[in-house]
Amino acid sequence: MSEDRKVGILGLGSYLPELGSYLPEKILTNKDLEKMVDTTDDWIMERTGIKERRIARADEATSDMATEAAKRALADAKLKPEDLDLIIVATITPDMFFPATACLVQQKIGARQVPAFDISVACSGFIYGIAIANQFIKSGTYKHALVVAAEKLSAVTDWQDRSTCVLFGDGAGAAVLGPVEKGGILSVYLGADGRQGELIKMPAGGSRIPATHKSVDERLHFIKMNGTELFRHAVKIMADAALQATQPLGLKAEDLSLVIPHQANIRILNAVAKRMGLSTDKIYLNISKYGNMSAASSAVALVEAVKEGRIKKGDKILLDAFGGGLTWGAMVIEW
Ligand code: ACO
Repeated sequence: MSEDRKVGILGLGSYLPELGSYLPEKILTNKDLEKMVDTTDDWIMERTGIKERRIARADEATSDMATEAAKRALADAKLKPEDLDLIIVATITPDMFFPATACLVQQKIGARQVPAFDISVACSGFIYGIAIANQFIKSGTYKHALVVAAEKLSAVTDWQDRSTCVLFGDGAGAAVLGPVEKGGILSVYLGADGRQGELIKMPAGGSRIPATHKSVDERLHFIKMNGTELFRHAVKIMADAALQATQPLGLKAEDLSLVIPHQANIRILNAVAKRMGLSTDKIYLNISKYGNMSAASSAVALVEAVKEGRIKKGDKILLDAFGGGLTWGAMVIEW
């Protein structure tokens, strides 16, 4: 198969309660949070841009949301589960350590026994997943790949910690990738910096600190975060990643129709737009409705932007994300 085979997104889907007929999904508003921790709607809106977020049901795990998103993406691509050659799930909140959530999704959607694996790169997961699928399809190894980004962050959020619990939400988005005639993925830029790994992590539950009564009592199974430092890195990293993905193509900020960023904080995104010399109306935002859904954020944002008609055939868009690890990624896609 030729090396310059073009790869694009053939279909998209997301798991969001109001889009599905089968689930009355819970909305947790800032007003609700005011009753849980010492915070205010004004503080959360002003510091983050978040108004509300979705919380999955207790009996609903990441693979359930991922499966729904996957089915919708397949339907949108007009493909069947048996057409898939590869399944990747990006998540830091898998149903369990193993089997991989991707294997659970494979079984639930009724796909063939094709390769299925998870990737753990936090908020950059959707972009990393698309980048991996792109390589397999471009090389001719596989034809159709499913990339799902799904998170149940509410399961690892400390609901007594006001500095983190106001930020996160649950959700899932999915894309089916395959060969395209024109456009598709034009550039990919990925990176990581393990030196900054301490800035956001879930300390316990792995082999370093296995679950014990003590680890649970010390609340080590929840997200711990240095928000101020992350904020600083995020602005610099996302602006730089945007440059690394656009410059090799000779593209300037004004050539982009829309930027689909990871939705961590509206102030981060405004600062990134400023650094890029981009007007803020070219940055797609849905953070007010969903908060930070880690890997799922950029996936759901892409789905919604397409549904709202913000992305049209021939548009060049930029996906741009950073997350725990630290990790980051950006890619230009011609729609
Ligand atoms: N309500 C009211 N007050 C609060 C709250 C809250 N929910 N949370 C913190 N405060 C207080 C602090 O205690 C502090 O009080 P003090 O001045 O008396 O000490 C004050 O507000 C200011 O706190 P800061 O942490 O300095 O506030 P900041 O403006 O930095 O905003 C925030 C905090 C929103 C977390 C910001 O730093 C941020 O968004 N950082 C980036 C986080 C991020 O991107 N995380 C995810 C990346 S990786 C991933 O997504 C998996």
